[in-house]
Amino acid sequence: MSEAPATNGPVARAAAFCRRFGLRAPILLAPMAGACPPALSIAVANAGGMGAAGLLTQTPEGIAAWMREVRAGTGGPVQLNLWIPDPPPRREPAHEGRLRAFLAQWGPEVAPDAGNATLPDFGAQCAALLDAAPAAISSIMGLYPPDFVAALKARGIAWFAVATTVAEAVAAEAAGADVVVAQGAEAGGHRGAFDPSLAERRLVGTFALVPAVADAVKVPVVATGGIADGRGVAAALALGASAVQLGTAFLRCPEAQLHPAWAEALARARPEDTLLTRAFSGRPGRSLATRYTAAAAAPDAPAPAPYPVQRGLTAAMRAQAQKDGDVDRMQAWAGQSAALGHAEPAASLVDRLWTDARALLNAA
Ligand SMILES: Cc1cc2nc3c(=O)[nH]c(=O)nc-3n(C[C@H](O)[C@H](O)[C@H](O)COP(=O)(O)O)c2cc1C
Repeated sequence: MSEAPATNGPVARAAAFCRRFGLRAPILLAPMAGACPPALSIAVANAGGMGAAGLLTQTPEGIAAWMREVRAGTGGPVQLNLWIPDPPPRREPAHEGRLRAFLAQWGPEVAPDAGNATLPDFGAQCAALLDAAPAAISSIMGLYPPDFVAALKARGIAWFAVATTVAEAVAAEAAGADVVVAQGAEAGGHRGAFDPSLAERRLVGTFALVPAVADAVKVPVVATGGIADGRGVAAALALGASAVQLGTAFLRCPEAQLHPAWAEALARARPEDTLLTRAFSGRPGRSLATRYTAAAAAPDAPAPAPYPVQRGLTAAMRAQAQKDGDVDRMQAWAGQSAALGHAEPAASLVDRLWTDARALLNAA
């Protein structure tokens, strides 16, 4: 018996999201600082999805250059992303000394001032985002200040706010977010918890978070975390999402230009081969479980310094690991579904995800 397609089901909800943002598939590349070269966004946007950049470490000039390069390759929509800054960290020189000695066992000597890591000026980055005029600007680790939200609205740029709990999602909607990105604990990379001290205690998985957020807010919900094939896309839409956002699954696409040692390790990683760690940046993020992450979690190892001090302290080790091709000391972020990703062009991944999800949702 054939039935008319539902007008309020998952496929209709995804279609409404696609119309609003000029997409042909409800598939978003996740913003990933350091892992979103323009070529990846160009390929995703030209395949009908949404491109993205994680611009945390980029200067205003770097932000403008990224956008110029993407615009030369696609007229499709992209999302630009920043972290909301934390208050200045508390410094503990004696403890940092112990960390420097520990890290010198894993990489080069750590310079005495390595913990003074600074990031580009947030206000100047925000101004550069507005100038770049993307389809969407996203936040993680908190909420944009009201004057910036007003500036977004005045320019017709949508605000996508990452939330890791229902309370964060409700706060984001109240602050004016146009879309909530519900980030489950399976996600690769940093957790977006507004309060880092709670990030490890409130580990809500995508399967529980997406329907709870969809019930709690009126704005569309994008599901992210552990989605890496058509089954995950279909499940997320059925749970109430309007679209999905994938990070780790895109990392093995040739356009991502990932270090081969990291890409090969992703292919082998079972869900239990990743873990949440503060050992790279001081903020908890999900990476491959490696020799370094195990050593940093040992009872006799010095606890990581707060963000971004730890990021500065580990910079030399991370750079050396890239040079050596040693995944055991690399900052190798990975979501729990890493092994579901394939080494294939990003356009074919977008096509495969949406074709398979539509078949599962009986909407082929
Ligand atoms: C290498 C890497 C870097 C990331 N950097 C950022 C970032 O700068 N900003 C952000 O909002 N999320 C960042 N994330 C999180 C992703 O946006 C997204 O939430 C996550 O990749 C989804 O889970 P998945 O990896 O299982 O698909 C990063 C993730 C990875 C894997």
